[in-house]
Amino acid sequence: MAVKELSIYPDPVLRRRCLEVKAFDEELGRFLDDLAESMYAHKGVGLAAPQVGELIRVAVVDVAQREDTPVLIELVNPEIIEASEEVCEYEEGCLSFPGEAELVTRPARVTVRAWDREGTPFEIVAEGLLATAIQHEIDHLDGIVFIDHISRLKRNLIERRMKKKAQEAVS
Ligand code: NI
Repeated sequence: MAVKELSIYPDPVLRRRCLEVKAFDEELGRFLDDLAESMYAHKGVGLAAPQVGELIRVAVVDVAQREDTPVLIELVNPEIIEASEEVCEYEEGCLSFPGEAELVTRPARVTVRAWDREGTPFEIVAEGLLATAIQHEIDHLDGIVFIDHISRLKRNLIERRMKKKAQEAVS
């Protein structure tokens, strides 16, 4: 297992649409292991493949944040098949936006269909923080990031700070 380097906004890899996984093989299993290890190492509640530079529809989520009993959810080719009209608001951050957080409004409850690492389909009904985390990660697979859900004013501020940091990092 290995902790992968994170793609930091405005890395263009975060704006690409990811490809569906077709092969449920050992390579996929290894990638899922690395993705989870990377999420835990960076203390995130979710991590999607493009955030480690891979353009495939794979993400992991663990909102329990308990090192003794992790509650890891592995999502391959996930899709939201139902979303509630009721919404909820959480302060979201993202490992690709270090130091940034903003309130985001999303459906409070979602039904998600995905495949596990063996290629078996399953469905989960998620609510609360888990619903938000899953929607945030599925967004990543379509090149959408959390700042796309906030006002243009707030988005511009975060974008400016992130671009400045990226410039400082190379100079
Ligand atoms: Ni994120």
